[in-house]
Amino acid sequence: MPATVVVGTQWGDEGKGKVTDLLAEDMACVVRYQGGHNAGHTLVVKGESFALQLIPSGILYPHLTPVIGNGVVIDLSVLFAEIDTLTSRGVDCSKLRVSATAHLILPYHQMLDAAFEQRLGDNKLGTTKRGIGPAYADKASRVGLRVQDLYDPPAFRARLQAVLAEKNELLTKVYGAEPCDIDDLVTEFIEHYAPRLEPYVTDTVDLVHEALEADENVLFEGAQATFLDLDHGTYPFVTSSNPTAGGVCAGAGVGPLHIGRVIGIAKAYTTRVGAGPFPAELFDDVGDHLVDVGHEYGTNTGRRRRTGWIDSVMLRHAVRLNSLSEIALTKLDVLDQLDTVKICVAYDIDGERHEKMPVDQAMIHRAEPIYEEMPGWKTDLTSCTTPESLPAAAAAYLGRLEATIGVPITMIGVGPGRSQIVHM
Ligand code: GDP
Ligand code: IMO
Ligand code: MG
Repeated sequence: MPATVVVGTQWGDEGKGKVTDLLAEDMACVVRYQGGHNAGHTLVVKGESFALQLIPSGILYPHLTPVIGNGVVIDLSVLFAEIDTLTSRGVDCSKLRVSATAHLILPYHQMLDAAFEQRLGDNKLGTTKRGIGPAYADKASRVGLRVQDLYDPPAFRARLQAVLAEKNELLTKVYGAEPCDIDDLVTEFIEHYAPRLEPYVTDTVDLVHEALEADENVLFEGAQATFLDLDHGTYPFVTSSNPTAGGVCAGAGVGPLHIGRVIGIAKAYTTRVGAGPFPAELFDDVGDHLVDVGHEYGTNTGRRRRTGWIDSVMLRHAVRLNSLSEIALTKLDVLDQLDTVKICVAYDIDGERHEKMPVDQAMIHRAEPIYEEMPGWKTDLTSCTTPESLPAAAAAYLGRLEATIGVPITMIGVGPGRSQIVHM
């Protein structure tokens, strides 16, 4: 069967976890292909909430294999804490598989992430300080440590020694921080983590291809989102991986011809955590209302999310960048009480109308939203289950949105629960 990709179309937190969990019922594997524990994916099942950072959002189904692919950067302490929490709540994590070629986040990555941010001062990116950027930088510089290195202790120590020679200079001389001790790290990683991780470690490329060749359903779960993509996002206010659908190929080791369905997850409004341009951002009561009603505080870091109207300029670009076949629109219920709802359909930049995302980053910073305004529905949507049960004003908003984005909206989220979804 061709594989499915779930990808964020905005700046993250669109509800990828919820949609992944929903689709996972029919999957044999759910695979994370990039990012790390900067992600926070929330699932709500029968009133119980699960917040996942590294473990794929299919974990609640005992029949499937959750896979952490080669493109993910892994903080093992966070992974084990997540396994422990899930296990204590009755979730079986024994089928989890972790790529032998995934890179590890080490304590110095986290320390350097915090130190870089502090040094940037007012210009900081607002990273999650999880060490994501420094870990991917080391991967690209070919000085990263991988999962498989844990099983060759002399080589692990030798590589770590070479890396620490530079990292400790940086930490102590440039940032005035404490150095990392090689013996402590070797004890932590080789004696404590390596044996515990071993049962999960595998050749995940082979595993995924075996599933595809057996005609089984495979889902690739994106973390972060299109406009946080290192290449296509609002650089430098981006993450250090490729969340876009193309990232699946490198981050999980599958060619593009295996991918048959790409579902873009979009909120019915827009949010962003951290710094960077946001043309349709709201600074008024409606923005506060979206924060309050949508509970727009980070799953991961607890930070208040910035809010704004939905932006179809971004979404049209996301369609192109990801080959989106469809959109799953989440959190429509958050707009329930509003008198009117708006769609940003174009940008005014220096007096000119732009319907496409400008390539010049400075222009995005100057972009003013051009809105279409429509009547709100003033109806509680949270128990809607069919397209026919949606009020006419909500249907009109969805119709206009679909027309401005250019691909079908196939699912509508009307609440956080697994069953709060309308299939269109
Ligand atoms: P992700 O990072 O894309 O997986 O999204 P997050 O889990 O960080 O943030 C989405 C938040 O919205 C979570 O708290 C979800 O439980 C919640 N959520 C998802 N879909 C809906 C929806 O349709 N309606 C409402 N009200 N909440 C939703
Ligand atoms: P999910 O998967 C929202 C943001 C950070 C910061 C920028 C870079 O839950 O949608 P990083 O720590 O990755 O170097 O930070 O990216 N960011 C996210 N924002 N949702 C996420 O993940 C994010 N992961 C990173 O806030 O602006
Ligand atoms: Mg999130």
